[in-house]
Amino acid sequence: MQEMLRVEDLWLSLGEKQVLKGVNFSMNYGEIHVLFGPNGAGKTSLIMTMMGFPRYKVERGRIYFKGEDITDKDIYERARLGMGISFQRPPTVRGVTLRKFIEIISDGADREEIIGIAEKLNLLDHLDRGLNEGFSGGEMKRSELFQLMVQRPNLVFIDEPESGVDLENIALVGEAINTLLGKDKVKDPKRGAIIITHTGYILDYVNADKGYIIFDGRILCGGNPRDILSEVKKNGYRKCAVCR
Ligand SMILES: Nc1ncnc2c1ncn2[C@@H]1O[C@H](COP(=O)(O)OP(=O)(O)O)[C@@H](O)[C@H]1O
Ligand SMILES: [Mg+2]
Repeated sequence: MQEMLRVEDLWLSLGEKQVLKGVNFSMNYGEIHVLFGPNGAGKTSLIMTMMGFPRYKVERGRIYFKGEDITDKDIYERARLGMGISFQRPPTVRGVTLRKFIEIISDGADREEIIGIAEKLNLLDHLDRGLNEGFSGGEMKRSELFQLMVQRPNLVFIDEPESGVDLENIALVGEAINTLLGKDKVKDPKRGAIIITHTGYILDYVNADKGYIIFDGRILCGGNPRDILSEVKKNGYRKCAVCR
């Protein structure tokens, strides 16, 4: 198993707040990792930092992707190297339709295939609306996955894919993530994902390899994602017995 991503002693502050306090972890190609943690723990900040958003300047520590030190690389360089992100709360872009946006980012992908993906994700009626304009929570999540599916990154960060999504559409979202990772066909060794979840519903659809709990800017423990989830459900985040 070859390593795809490694984070070493990552520290980050935003404003006055020390948000990440020495995060360490790594993942191999072909793996799906899941991040659990209470609100404000630093989950979103961690993936925004790995993706390289300018506001999330690394204070200390290194990030390696595909064997390269990317800590000082710009976000577009990381995207070119094969990282992609689905936001917890994506912005609305008035005046740019979902169709136009998909055309721009898909870079010559097959039109029929694109329409097929939109159909699968129940987004055909949304193609000619402004990007995320008036989209419901679930529609936004599906639109985010649509954008990733036409870009095909090797590593995707998916922030709370099930938030605001009704039960029926969670299955759709789960399928979309599996398609994105090539796991519905032959397991694709080149792809991987880091998924943030609160509810854990998504675990019913994607076959996650490892789970972590982030608490107050630190990774408390890692292990089998289902065991972690059931411990959290029983004892809350503070008393995560599996970490001992
Ligand atoms: N721009 C910012 N300035 C100051 N604090 C911030 C900023 N963005 C996020 N934070 C704080 O950082 C902490 C972690 O936030 P976040 O990464 O969004 O947590 P999570 O995704 O785990 O809920 C929170 O306390 C949040 O209020
Ligand atoms: Mg968050």
